This record gives sequence, C-alpha cells and structure tokens, in this order.
Amino acid sequence: MNAQTTSTSADAGAGTTPAPAPSPAPVTVIGLGNMGSALAAALRDRGHPTTVWNRSPEKAKPLADRGAHVASTPEEAVAASGLVLACVLDYDALHTVLDPLAEAGGLAGKSLVNLTSGSPEQADAMAAWADAHGAGYLDGGIMTTPPGVGNPEMMFLYSGSEDVLDAHRPVLAALGDPLYLGARPGLASLYDSALLGLMWATFTGWLHGTAMVTADGPSATEFTRVALRWLTGAVSGFMTTYAPQVDAGRYPGDDATVDVQIATIDHLVHAARARGVDDTLPGLLKSTMERAAAKGHGQDSYASVIEVLRNPVAR
Ligand SMILES: NC(=O)c1ccc[n+]([C@@H]2O[C@H](COP(=O)([O-])OP(=O)(O)OC[C@H]3O[C@@H](n4cnc5c(N)ncnc54)[C@H](OP(=O)(O)O)[C@@H]3O)[C@@H](O)[C@H]2O)c1
Repeated sequence: MNAQTTSTSADAGAGTTPAPAPSPAPVTVIGLGNMGSALAAALRDRGHPTTVWNRSPEKAKPLADRGAHVASTPEEAVAASGLVLACVLDYDALHTVLDPLAEAGGLAGKSLVNLTSGSPEQADAMAAWADAHGAGYLDGGIMTTPPGVGNPEMMFLYSGSEDVLDAHRPVLAALGDPLYLGARPGLASLYDSALLGLMWATFTGWLHGTAMVTADGPSATEFTRVALRWLTGAVSGFMTTYAPQVDAGRYPGDDATVDVQIATIDHLVHAARARGVDDTLPGLLKSTMERAAAKGHGQDSYASVIEVLRNPVAR
C-alpha cells in the first residue's frame, strides 16, 4: 500500500475518505531490443497497461507473459495509448517504423517520448517532425544499461516538451529518475554524448593505470579501491572548483598550474614505458596541456585546457 492509499484513524475520525490512487496510465513501447524490453518490463511490473510492438515479433513473448498486449502493427500499438515510448536502434529505424503511420495521421494528439540514441541535431529534427504530425515530443537519454531500468537512482535525461514530461511524469518515473534539461530537444542527446565521453575517458584512464599497477603485482581490485577513493573524493572536488572558473573564463593557478602538471605527466609516461604499457593516452594528455601552455596558460589551472578544446583549429 503506498502513501496515497494509506488511511489513518485520524482520517476516519474526521470523516474524510482518502482519494483513490490513480490507476497506472496506459503506455505503448515501440522496440523490444535489450533496452526496449527492459522499459516495457519495468512498466508492466508497476502495473501500467502496456502495449508493445517489435519488428521481430518473437521478442514480445516475454512481455506477453508479463501481461503486455502485443500489437501486430505499429499503427495498432500507437493507437492503444496516449503515451508512446520509442526505443529502436537508430533514427533511420525510427522513421522506418513511424513514418507510414504518421503520414496517415496516427500520431496526432499523441505524446512521443523518444529514447532512441542519436545526435542533438537528429533530436531537434525529430521534434520538428513530430510537431508537424501533431504529436508532443520529448527526447530522452537513458543513463544506464537494461538491468538498471526501474532503479530510481538511475538518470533518464529529458529535453523538449516539458508539458509532455509533466503529463506523464508518473509513468516516466517508473523507469528511473527523470531529469529535465530544457526545451531544446537536442539537449538530452548532447548531455548523453558528453557523459558517455566522460565515462570512456575515465574507463580508459582507469584501465591504463590498472595495466601499469598490475604489471608490478597488485591486483586490479586492489588498485580500483584506491582509484575510486581518488575519483569520488579528490577529483570530483577539483571538478567542482574548476567549473566556475570555466564559466568565468578565468583560471587562477593557485592550486596546481598547467606547467607543473606537464612536468608531472612525464613520470606517468616514463612509468608506462618502463612496464611496456601503451603510452598513447598520457602522450595525448601531455600534448593537450602543452598546447594550453603555448597559448599562455602555463601558470593557469588545469581548467584552462578548455581553451584548447574549444578552439582546436588554433593549434
Ligand atoms: N542497451 C543499452 O545499454 C542502452 C543504453 C542507453 C541507450 N540505449 C539505446 O537504446 C536503443 C536500443 O538499444 P538496444 O540495446 O535495445 O539495442 P538492440 O538490442 O540491438 O535492439 C534494437 C532494436 O531496434 C529494432 N530495429 C533495428 N532496426 C530496425 C528497423 N530497421 N526497423 C524496425 N526496428 C528496428 C530492433 O528490432 P529487431 O528486434 O526486429 O531487430 C530492436 O527492437 C539504441 O538507440 C541504444 O543506443 C541502449
């Protein structure tokens, strides 16, 4: 029983009747790959009447076993619910599925929440396309893998129509924590790509360090315990300090200067080479710092490297 349905003796004494909990809203899920199946399963588990469609119909069987209605065409699937979640491979696939029914007026009055990955520009174009076909459009970025769907700690990034998010928030909150970024439809994709870039850079730096440390004996697990303390304690604090510097365009080098970090990264290059570990990554980092120094930021903080990243042609 949730908070909305709980009655107390005080309620009873006052003669009030608690409002009935709203019924879970119907929702349609288009695309039942790994991610679409996880989305539909999370919605069924929370009691939402769920209609599903997938190009390869056999993937709908586990959802049918959970009580989902399996539509035989995209048209039937979209007609079943006011809210349509789409999660297919890419935008070409999305248009292949939706174009015919949209041309026939099937999207009019619907809320389309697109969880298919793409570029910010593709999301912007998709929003205009949806608008031309009479649908509200919210673009989404799923910041987890299928096992994380339904975990309220996991971020689902959204941008585009805030009205669509507000109207369907309880459904979308069943998938994860909905984080609205703004009205420009491409924002969720932009953040998604930026955050994945951060993840890949972090993974690669961690694996590079792991390759060096394990060459001398300690296990990856031992190194990772220390690496995580470094990341979540110190490094995240440095980022919090540097973000306002980037916003202000001023990078006081009162903690550690770029020149000092250039000297320090030579130790990393040396340690990698001495252990036969690839030195491409530290070489790239060093050359980026050197470009910042060459632009006059040697005595500035590391945040000044943004000046090189923002102006790559000015090498
Ligand atoms: N998996 C993740 O961890 C994750 C995380 C965040 C975001 N995403 C995004 O979620 C989307 C789906 O990923 P996924 O992992 O579910 O991929 P997947 O398992 O490969 O599923 C791809 C889905 O797209 C459908 N599809 C592909 N081409 C199609 C076409 N031409 N016409 C109709 N349907 C087509 C597939 O249908 P069939 O079953 O018939 O092939 C399937 O339903 C991608 O944009 C991905 O980037 C995934």
